[in-house]
Amino acid sequence: MRSSQETGMTRMIATAAALAMAMIAPAQAATVYNTLSGEAPLVIAHRGASGHLPEHTLAAYELAIKMGAQVVEPDLQLTADGVLVAIHDATLTRTTNVAELFEPRNGGYLVSDFTLAEIKTLTALPTRTASTSYPDYTPSMADPFKVPTFQEVMDLVNAHNAATGAQIGIYPESKVPNNPVMNVQIVNEMKANGFDGSAPNSFLQTFSHEGARHLSELQAALGMTNGVAALGYVIKTDDVYGVYDATTAAISSLDELAGFVTGLGVNLGYDLDAGFIAAAHALGLVVHGWTFRPTTLEAAEAQFLPWIAAGMDGFFTDYPDLAVAVLDGLSPAPVPLPAGLPLLAAGVGALVLVRRRR
Ligand code: G3P
Ligand code: CA
Repeated sequence: MRSSQETGMTRMIATAAALAMAMIAPAQAATVYNTLSGEAPLVIAHRGASGHLPEHTLAAYELAIKMGAQVVEPDLQLTADGVLVAIHDATLTRTTNVAELFEPRNGGYLVSDFTLAEIKTLTALPTRTASTSYPDYTPSMADPFKVPTFQEVMDLVNAHNAATGAQIGIYPESKVPNNPVMNVQIVNEMKANGFDGSAPNSFLQTFSHEGARHLSELQAALGMTNGVAALGYVIKTDDVYGVYDATTAAISSLDELAGFVTGLGVNLGYDLDAGFIAAAHALGLVVHGWTFRPTTLEAAEAQFLPWIAAGMDGFFTDYPDLAVAVLDGLSPAPVPLPAGLPLLAAGVGALVLVRRRR
């Protein structure tokens, strides 16, 4: 005859064992990703969380990381005194208050005509849907809306990774097509700051396919293994896919690109489809699409889900929060086997012991 205490304990242990079984069993509804790695697509914060805060500012990058982006994307230009700064345009006009503070130089406001000290006097302005604040977010830095140097972007990411154990990556783009000096500087600075490919999620990118080849060569010479993506527009001619290089007006074949890059960063329009992604995957190339700009969860689902099904490997998005929400909605993360196994063993072991004592 079993005591009520024993019965209760047996039930408790059996429940624990069942729970542990459920925890280590593959989730029935777990999403199967058709990405090259089989993992969920990367959420790449396009110019930071630029749908919310001024693009290419430390605050926009920091917010993106807090929202769950795995990668932040700084576009890079060179100042007059040779410093890499994170800014999209060749000029300071659209994204800063330069016209209020300086007279034009050489007829305009080229980044390359201003020193870093001058650029640091500017304030970055919100564009599109962005503003200068975000609910429940206070920037950790004193000057959140300045034009940051590449070094400052890497410092921010490295500090976050060191503090949390995360592996947030960077995805710098040389905005000056195939500039050898700039390419060397970008690669050297990445290596000096530990972005050498030893951790996942960092890439280099450029619209110039010859520039991408140069970046790959520079990395190889330094023993670096970050991904390198050639950017462009998908063009299908006679059923064969290619990527249009807007800097030369040439179309590179996927076979050719696979000889020197590891990925393709492509516009969401033109001839991009699931067939292109499959063709790229067949050559071992990942595909990252740009630019996802949904402003509601409903719009995000409509935009992201077809590309998730097609196996796209990463999303450049101004709204990393919405990309994360769509991915989080697909499947609960199964408890990793190593965490579930001891629980199961303990539960089953205890159950056996109790039964033997009867
Ligand atoms: O680098 C990928 C995507 O950002 C390209 O577009 O003009 O925003 O740099 P853009
Ligand atoms: Ca870019």
